[in-house]
Amino acid sequence: MNIKTLKKNDFSYADTLASLHAKNINGKLSNIGVEFLSKIYQTFLQDKNIRIWILVHKKKAIGFLCGCDNNEKIYKKFLLKNFPFLIFLFLSNILNFFFIKNIYGLIILFLNPKKKTINSELLSIAITKKFQNKHYGKRLVRKLERYLKKKNKKEYIVKVESNNKRAISFYLSNKFRYIFKTSYPLFDIINLKKKL
Ligand SMILES: CC(C)(COP(=O)(O)OP(=O)(O)OC[C@H]1O[C@@H](n2cnc3c(N)ncnc32)[C@H](O)[C@@H]1OP(=O)(O)O)[C@@H](O)C(=O)NCCC(=O)NCCS
Repeated sequence: MNIKTLKKNDFSYADTLASLHAKNINGKLSNIGVEFLSKIYQTFLQDKNIRIWILVHKKKAIGFLCGCDNNEKIYKKFLLKNFPFLIFLFLSNILNFFFIKNIYGLIILFLNPKKKTINSELLSIAITKKFQNKHYGKRLVRKLERYLKKKNKKEYIVKVESNNKRAISFYLSNKFRYIFKTSYPLFDIINLKKKL
């Protein structure tokens, strides 16, 4: 098992990341679909503030972590770069309640600017089920922390849906601390932070 750092603009991994995300992370983004996620990772792969590490087993990606040292404009960049795609996606699903529910969650996540004092963030992490609980997640977190320390960052955050108990346990056992919960009509987000 080895960990590979993806190079900027290496778009060949966008679909792999999208598929790992959709299969392993239960949440709003996954519910919107793999094509949408692939657009997100294409944008992230272009961003100089974002770093992505993948776990490789027998030449196959079996997990990844995506993190950033400055999250201020990442979603705005995504919205601007993919505006026609997003409008098309929205219009073609306008009567689909499930889609509207998820897109609402997404808008909240993307545009939630309040209490944003820490701008380094663990954006997403996922390990294929078969390889979970073998400390690969911990190893990926260490990679992100080494990267952030080099950038002189003192702390970073992660946001997780409150029903993702496994992920919350994982973060707490990796020395993250609860900061606050944000409640929305359809879901709650737990904000955690870790000092470096
Ligand atoms: C969360 C996730 C990335 C953790 O990766 P992992 O490789 O399975 O976790 P690790 O083996 O590194 O676990 C590290 C510690 O977290 C804790 N932990 C991990 N999985 C846990 C679980 N299912 N329940 C409780 N604690 C857990 C353990 O305490 C473990 O430390 P220990 O064994 O020394 O006590 C992985 O389970 C996953 O991909 N989950 C689905 C995707 C997801 O929800 N991602 C988060 C989105 S915000």
